[in-house]
Amino acid sequence: MELIIQPGAPESARIVADSIVALLQRKPDAVLGLATGSSPLAVYDELVRRHEAGDVSFAQARAFLLDEYVGLPADHPQRYRNVIETELVGRVDFAEGAVQGPDGLAADIPAACAAYEQAIVDAGGVDLQILGIGTDGHIAFNEPGSSLASRTRIKTLTRQTRIDNARFFDDDVEKVPTHTLTQGLATIRAARHLVLVSTGRHKAEAIHQMVEGPVSAMWPASVLQHHPHVSVLVDPAAAARLQ
Ligand code: F6R
Repeated sequence: MELIIQPGAPESARIVADSIVALLQRKPDAVLGLATGSSPLAVYDELVRRHEAGDVSFAQARAFLLDEYVGLPADHPQRYRNVIETELVGRVDFAEGAVQGPDGLAADIPAACAAYEQAIVDAGGVDLQILGIGTDGHIAFNEPGSSLASRTRIKTLTRQTRIDNARFFDDDVEKVPTHTLTQGLATIRAARHLVLVSTGRHKAEAIHQMVEGPVSAMWPASVLQHHPHVSVLVDPAAAARLQ
């Protein structure tokens, strides 16, 4: 695991964007893994800048989202498929249908999860996966107690994650969905390069457990210690608990 401490999100974003631009120059049809939430926003803004400057095209690339809320209406602004459209996809040149997410409105959820796993495999696997981390150590929505061997499935969000995400739902925790479809820890680990970005003192304990704790389902991100190519980009506040 490579740990890179930067002054803030914009500096980390430039490093992550360098990796993504280099990947797409080397392999224009690369498969990206996209996270939602606040952490990757600076990365997406930087990618949009590089695209507008003519440095990178996503025209042949494909992308898969990490997760999706269950039951949010198709036009809900917090549905992750809509969030990523606003934050990145609609601002660059991905081809129509090139970006997929788990179907949080599927009638048959196990079938939809299995189909999602297969779609990732059929695409050749994820070349570079962007990740954030929850205050409780979740990646995607693999909450504490998630199987380290898990695949895409339905998960119940912890009360803490719903509180953390209430800011996207009028500060009303009751409006935050209780369930998500999420790539599993084994799904994420199958990506060839994992890039986790995080800032802020509220993430310091999770970063400490991920980097220095024992590998444990109680801190799901700690499973990344077993991956051969992980880059972690944090600011000094998120790094504050590292030894
Ligand atoms: C969202 C996701 C989550 C977030 C995590 C941190 O697609 O995968 O694991 O990365 O909840 O969220 P932020 O970045 O909003 O603090």
